Amino acid sequence: MGEKIACLNLGQQPLANKFLTQKEVDKTLPGEDIGMYNLEYQYDIDTHLFSMINQPPKEDMFNNTYPYDSSGSQIMVEHFKTIANKINKDYVLKIPNDPFLSTIPNHSTDKINKNILEIGSNNGPFISNIDDRANRIAVEPCDNFAQITNDMGIPTYNKFWNKELSYEIMSDHGLMDVVYAANCMCHISDIKEAFYAVRSILNNNGVFIFEDPYLLDMLNLCSYDSLYDEHFSMFSIHSLTKLLNSVGLYINKIEHLDVHGGSIRIYTSCSNKNIDISIDKFMHTESLMGINKPITYKLFGEKVNNHRILLLNILEEQKSLGKKIISYGATSKSTTIFNYCGIGPDIIDYITDTTVAKQDKYSPGVHIPIISPEEGLTESVGSIFLGAWNFADYIMDKEKDYAINKKWIINVPFPRIV
Ligand code: TMP
Repeated sequence: MGEKIACLNLGQQPLANKFLTQKEVDKTLPGEDIGMYNLEYQYDIDTHLFSMINQPPKEDMFNNTYPYDSSGSQIMVEHFKTIANKINKDYVLKIPNDPFLSTIPNHSTDKINKNILEIGSNNGPFISNIDDRANRIAVEPCDNFAQITNDMGIPTYNKFWNKELSYEIMSDHGLMDVVYAANCMCHISDIKEAFYAVRSILNNNGVFIFEDPYLLDMLNLCSYDSLYDEHFSMFSIHSLTKLLNSVGLYINKIEHLDVHGGSIRIYTSCSNKNIDISIDKFMHTESLMGINKPITYKLFGEKVNNHRILLLNILEEQKSLGKKIISYGATSKSTTIFNYCGIGPDIIDYITDTTVAKQDKYSPGVHIPIISPEEGLTESVGSIFLGAWNFADYIMDKEKDYAINKKWIINVPFPRIV
């Protein structure tokens, strides 16, 4: 790794998903939550990697209290079903070089001799949709979720992904034909080892497909709230090309996805022969946008600071109107914003969230109460900060009748009232 430039300091932050109970709030001052750390990012001039400087211990983030449920939103359930069906068709059921059949027929009950591994399987919305005639294997460090996929009959290793685990799975099941990971690789601090571990377990003809939030989208949207404890790296194609090639993996195709405010799905294999045109396109756009220039990251840091000032002005102005300001969605994203901008219950009266596990708790760090939408979406509300902005179209449509005489405050791509 080469010279690194510290470019963005989001200050003292709590773990983004560490919601507090009433009891915990009673004995903790705001900003003094257990596990507070300094959230700061750097840009590596040599590898082009944009990554966190000091990540909190992984065991503190991913354990049996981890509340993020991949099946919690219908949009994400559909997302995982669609990609699982595509992988079934293109890789799991595909018969190479068969002149009569291109895929294994659906009516056959025979076992399929293919190994499919998901790293970071959460509660199984992807792996459970992979054809169950194949050998499905999962890795999930949070025991609450690992238990769910184990109960579905999918052998789940309740461990963190690394070299040792890759060897263990290899000795239990052999090499993998498909490895898939969604919103997981960006969590791992030793990313080179994680990719090496994937290469080690991959069959020479196998594919490794992964998707993560995209750095260029974050820079373009100034969505700095995509940065929190779990997001160690934000990938660009420039950084991924270097990292993957160094372990013998090659990018064959890239897709852009709308999920999580803009993500990329990367198709890789051990062959550098089949290279899709999408790679040149992404590389070209990234170069044009200055993704490999340190000045881009310095300017990003300045823009983030300006956003903070603008958002605070808007909230102050709305507060002066005398009506409640609430936040819609107790998201990990809003944890970053509220703690960075110093927005507490004196500004935001409460947060509404559909997740039962978050209700009647308090947001990390700034301790804003969280209640259900049924309780919180009342007439005394004047404006609504859209914490879950990545679901803006869906939410604003769902709440159009309720919000008819209210104002939405949105922070992306710049703080404004709509
Ligand atoms: P996340 O961005 O950290 O995944 O959190 C999204 C949160 O937003 C999750 O707790 C559920 C919540 N939410 C609502 O309360 N209402 C909604 O309509 C949607 C889409 C999400």
